Amino acid sequence: MKRIAIIGTGYVGLVTGCCLAEMGNQVTCLDIDKEKIDSLRMGGLPFYEPLLRELFDRVTGSHRLFFTNDYLKALAGAELCFLALPTPPGVGDACDTSILLQAARELASLMEAPLIIVIKSTVPMGTSQLVKEVISRELERRKIFIPFDVINNPEFLREGSAVSDCMRPDRIILGGENPVAIAIVRDLYLPLLSDPNKVLVMDSLSAELSKYAANAMLACRLSFMNYLSVLCETAGSDIEMVKRSLGFDERIGPHYLNAGIGFGGSCLPKDLLALRASASEYGLPTHLLDTILQINEEMKERFFDKIQEHFSDLSGKRFALWGLSFKPETDDLRKAPSLYLIQRLLEMGASVQAYDPVAMPKAKILMRNYEGLTFCEDEYEATDGADAILLVTEWKTFRLADFVRIKSMMRSAVIFDGRNIYNGLELRHWGFDYYPVGKPALRTETAR
Ligand code: UDX
Repeated sequence: MKRIAIIGTGYVGLVTGCCLAEMGNQVTCLDIDKEKIDSLRMGGLPFYEPLLRELFDRVTGSHRLFFTNDYLKALAGAELCFLALPTPPGVGDACDTSILLQAARELASLMEAPLIIVIKSTVPMGTSQLVKEVISRELERRKIFIPFDVINNPEFLREGSAVSDCMRPDRIILGGENPVAIAIVRDLYLPLLSDPNKVLVMDSLSAELSKYAANAMLACRLSFMNYLSVLCETAGSDIEMVKRSLGFDERIGPHYLNAGIGFGGSCLPKDLLALRASASEYGLPTHLLDTILQINEEMKERFFDKIQEHFSDLSGKRFALWGLSFKPETDDLRKAPSLYLIQRLLEMGASVQAYDPVAMPKAKILMRNYEGLTFCEDEYEATDGADAILLVTEWKTFRLADFVRIKSMMRSAVIFDGRNIYNGLELRHWGFDYYPVGKPALRTETAR
């Protein structure tokens, strides 16, 4: 059992805190947001994440997870301190590490015992060294010597499967110099790993880059598939067939090959921008990263253009928008394609009836002043009097919708499927015009 402090209770901090507590450690999570901490103490979770509720209740109920605003309380008796703070885009899209560095300064001003500082936040190359310098300077200012280590340990969990990703990581990356500190952090994770070789020890610069490399590689695959989907639409080939043939190639593998309306979320777009800014700082060209980002923007525009092309005039049209979050199983709306679409449709004089299984409370706050946007009780209400359904997020509930009932409620039966989840032939059979991504559209008039 280790005593662990976690600074920052966002996705990474809170999920990591729960998982480390579940493994038997004594964890105290700190956040400067007093309201958030008060709410967590009362059992309120700041976001929706599958399995988190049960895990949270278990570890708080068994007194292994605590919350505080007070650094001294968080650090009391802690051998390890995880930094899980936001690193948002800053000047020129470069990653802004000021919140992280401020937290490092704060803890150095208060620490009284040796500490291993573990950086979980996604940070650009050189940040672990900066954290080390900030802490050393603060300890010098205090005229006190306390041994400490900084380990870079990037987090790879995905929203929507954060708990299982955290409990079953593909690999653990540890960047640092001191083998003793590395061994302590390694031992913390070993119970989660089927194979101890999944712990990869390296220098901190390489660890820092590894996180950006993973997200950029995934984004690159997605933009490549999205690019191919445009080629498929133009040539009349089928991206789903191409995807399957790629996925069975063991050198390529089946993951992150779904073409669609573009990737969103807090990480892929932000990390690509930060990686591009880093490459620029090192004086390197950035054309590959520029293109990945550009294709992603174009996918959202292209989806909108398809809708506009079908209807010619969008003014007065009513759209059922299914799915608001950037992906299923999360209520996160950051960089969600739904936001772009809603804005464009409203600008053109259309109205939108939106529904999402979990993101509605956040969406209602974020888009409270949007004239022409209404939030519905379920996917069926959203289709009432609609001219088309826009499938934006592939929630399971949308897959099994009753399209016979839905058609009777709609003004015109059209589906724009931004995630390729439906069988177009079936939909056409039921009288819908069907527009997928990267496959030929199926129109009812061409069936006759
Ligand atoms: C990502 C990384 O996967 C994770 O390792 C990191 O820690 C944080 O960033 P996340 O943003 O939660 O995780 O979601 P992810 O499941 O990776 O999806 C990212 C985006 O890609 C979503 O918009 C999703 O819809 C899109 N996507 C994913 C596709 O368009 N097609 C796919 O085949 C897979």
